[in-house]
Amino acid sequence: MEIKKSVFSVSSAQISQCPADNKPEYAFIGRSNVGKSSLINMLCNHKGLAKTSSTPGKTLLINHFIINDSWYLVDLPGYGYAQRSKKMQEKLAFMIRSYILQREQMVNLFVLIDIRHTPQKVDLEFISFLGENGIPFAIVFTKADKISKEKAAINVKNYMNTIAETWEELPPYFVTSSEIKLGRDEVLDYIDQINKQLEST
Ligand code: GTP
Ligand code: MG
Repeated sequence: MEIKKSVFSVSSAQISQCPADNKPEYAFIGRSNVGKSSLINMLCNHKGLAKTSSTPGKTLLINHFIINDSWYLVDLPGYGYAQRSKKMQEKLAFMIRSYILQREQMVNLFVLIDIRHTPQKVDLEFISFLGENGIPFAIVFTKADKISKEKAAINVKNYMNTIAETWEELPPYFVTSSEIKLGRDEVLDYIDQINKQLEST
């Protein structure tokens, strides 16, 4: 699948402000600075579509981008950024949680994990929350350009083994780099498959 057109739609502080046209949407979540906004730009081949920053905590609202006039990519604020005030953390956690649990149009959530790190508690807890609530999700390992292929393969295996300790069925996963455009076709094909399934039902 190719993305021919990607356009910013709306920024929302709550789901009542999100688009009401019932098109399917694919959202991106993960720790602050993991590369959510960069991944959206890479997938769309559209630099600057989603705002990125080297300082964590850039994305603070739910941002919808309409793709090929027919479905959305959704950039969410990051979780687990301790530098924020408690009040701000709670506000964002509530926003993310409400979106994930209530947004029926959200047909798949991509959970982004920095490929360099060993499994972190905050991410594993988040994945458990998704499993417990039956939220369809896939894992996207980011920043693969920052380590060797061999190390990347070891880290991915280790991560999936950790998830397998808790879950019988493993989610799909992708290895990506926004920097070198790695994993783009795989993620887009996955989205395309779901879109086609939805069209045929
Ligand atoms: P918040 O909105 O703050 O939650 O962050 P985010 O997850 O949207 O991260 P963002 O896309 O803004 O990227 C954070 C930093 O990581 C930026 O400096 C990016 O340039 C960098 N970055 C993102 N993806 C990659 C990647 O694949 N490779 C490398 N080397 N750097 C990346
Ligand atoms: Mg962001």
